Amino acid sequence: MWSEIGKINMTDKPTYLGLLNAVALAESHAHEYLSAWAEVTTDPDVRAVLTTIAAREGEHGMSFAKRINELGFELREDEDPNHGKKMDMARSDRSDLEKLEALGLLQFRTEDSPDIFDGMFRDHSIDIRTGELLGRYIAEERDTLRRLTACRDALACRPATSSPPTEPSPALEDKIDALTRAVDELRQIVCAQAMPTGGP
Ligand SMILES: [Fe+2]
Repeated sequence: MWSEIGKINMTDKPTYLGLLNAVALAESHAHEYLSAWAEVTTDPDVRAVLTTIAAREGEHGMSFAKRINELGFELREDEDPNHGKKMDMARSDRSDLEKLEALGLLQFRTEDSPDIFDGMFRDHSIDIRTGELLGRYIAEERDTLRRLTACRDALACRPATSSPPTEPSPALEDKIDALTRAVDELRQIVCAQAMPTGGP
């Protein structure tokens, strides 16, 4: 029947179930280590970016698990051998820039070249609801990559050890005073030499 075209037969296992499962697990793990990092960073700008992205990752994890459930299946847990190391890195006292690099957060960034997300819609059997979820997920992931790239670029421009601005030291003030006096003396000499000394 033509009217049946496009409807999902719930007894069939969707070909994209593995994709949904992989995304659900990866996003939930990312939510954990990004949240842990946000709790320890001392940089309010970094914390703001991490809080936004961690919320997205957590929501993606839950939404994909929910969609798997709606399709009549269960999320299959799969141990990520690197998750413990990522949590340790996130909680460590390494710099924010080091964490960003070590956690591989920009590994899927390709500018305008094809990226890992481009292949997700090659499966033409994806149902409408799952397609909506995947489309929003992809757009948010690409926005996340743009935000993290801006964050990385800003951190890379900062001195290696950031310290709050300080008052000039007494020794520096003495040098500035001496330099000011020297400039004054020099100006007086130049002015004196430029004074008319009377015509011949
Ligand atoms: Fe993600």
